[in-house]
Amino acid sequence: MIVGVLKEARAGESRVSATPATVGQIRRLGYTVVVDPGAGAAAGFVDSAYESAGATTGDAATADVVLGVNAPEPAQLDRIRPDATVIALFSPAFDAEMTEDLARRPFTALSMDAVPRISRAQSMDVLSSMANIAGYRAVIEAAHEFGRFFTGQVTAAGKVPPARVLVAGAGVAGLAAIGAAGSLGAIVRATDPRPEVAEQVRSLGGEYLSIESAEAEVSRTGYAKEMDDGYKAREAELYAAQCLEADILITTALIPGRPAPTLITAEMVASMKPGSVIVDMAAANGGNVEGTVKGERTLTANGVTIIGYTDLAGRLPAQASQLYGTNLLNLLKLMTPDKEAGLVLDWDDPVQRSITVVRGGELAWPPPPVQVSAAPAPTAPAAVTEPRSAKTQMTVRQKFGGVAVAALALFLTAGFAPAALLPHVTVFVLAIVIGYYVIGHVHHALHTPLMSVTNAISGIIVVGALLQIGHANTAVTVLSSVAIMLAGINVFGGFAVTRRMLAMFNRS
Ligand code: NAI
Repeated sequence: MIVGVLKEARAGESRVSATPATVGQIRRLGYTVVVDPGAGAAAGFVDSAYESAGATTGDAATADVVLGVNAPEPAQLDRIRPDATVIALFSPAFDAEMTEDLARRPFTALSMDAVPRISRAQSMDVLSSMANIAGYRAVIEAAHEFGRFFTGQVTAAGKVPPARVLVAGAGVAGLAAIGAAGSLGAIVRATDPRPEVAEQVRSLGGEYLSIESAEAEVSRTGYAKEMDDGYKAREAELYAAQCLEADILITTALIPGRPAPTLITAEMVASMKPGSVIVDMAAANGGNVEGTVKGERTLTANGVTIIGYTDLAGRLPAQASQLYGTNLLNLLKLMTPDKEAGLVLDWDDPVQRSITVVRGGELAWPPPPVQVSAAPAPTAPAAVTEPRSAKTQMTVRQKFGGVAVAALALFLTAGFAPAALLPHVTVFVLAIVIGYYVIGHVHHALHTPLMSVTNAISGIIVVGALLQIGHANTAVTVLSSVAIMLAGINVFGGFAVTRRMLAMFNRS
């Protein structure tokens, strides 16, 4: 069987449905691959790279299995053979005209954007892989437009405050944006009606802003439901307050099957600081922000930039093509039970059924609903009587061994070392034990300020040096003076650095 890789016809599309890497893997499934000339050029993959991977260049639309990113244009659709299978992003849920057109054609059409959000379909979930890239790119676009540091800095030339980023909607794109903004050093906050995302937001270093609601409940589908008016009013209050502070606002709110909810009103945009940037990722579905222009970058009267680009994933074309191509490859693997049979559509498989728009000329859209569950099943608490693992027992044994060795060392020191040494050794050992427990219980993020505070402990050197400074020996006096000076720098420098660092991260 021949797999064809189309050159995308849509203006501005830079992605391609297979890369040289995925072509090699498709061939290992037993297929021959034909690529339209120049298909991967916009993503940086030249024809010779495909040829090196074992593909030939030719008319991809006439293959047995035709791969595309967007729905092929009519001229391409007209060339597709009646017994062929076409796989692309047809958006049947939104594009009724395209669905009607497909229903008039004799071939089979599968739509990658209809892959259900279930665990076993994750490797084919194009919407997630594209939203992940788009969320990252949204932050890069915002950072470019913002034109300032995201991270806070204390330099000899002055202090730079960290940027404040608010992410509305912590789904796939939102979480990618939180991760990207956090890794650039911004203070990131996020909100979402699904309470289960709070932990995910925190694990990426963000702060979850919850909106109290009796309606908020763990989603069984991974998608939010329409919230009541009370929730919307409290949500609006939160956004109004956050807009006054935020430098960057990234909106990703989506409720499947509905136009994007308007979260940020024109009044809230007008309240934002000049130079702030909004990336409205939901622009293609109507937008979460009043004033967004789909596909455009606009500047408001008060100097706020609103970005409504709908091709964010395509702005990282090589990686977007690689991930999309891998999603397609995983579908081909699922649909290729053996090399001899080639592509087989299994009507009983919920994933394959869900993505089928047209089967052999017959309309198969919409598919029956698939039972999905994004919420983890509650786990039973571990039994108290459960035997301890060998690893834990080893640790306890090691601990007792360590204590025994330490006691023996102390006993030998007390018995054989000069009497003056014992109090010093005791203080030293106690300092190690106390230091271990104190530092071990301080959060990692606070280790640097802790270090600068502990510098102040070198104050003890100042006390020792003061006691020695009046010594008859000049060398001792000079050494004491130097010690006082150096320890003084440590003490005051430590406090000064701590103060500046804490002021930088003060959220009030
Ligand atoms: P998703 O379904 O994983 O996430 C949407 C999130 O919005 C969910 O967590 C949901 O709980 C949340 N949400 C719903 N109502 C909300 C509200 N009132 N306030 C705050 N959060 C709310 O969707 P995904 O994949 O993350 O995509 C997000 C958006 O990004 C979609 O609109 C999608 O079309 C768009 N997108 C845009 C791209 C572009 O180039 N501009 C590229 C890829 C995706």
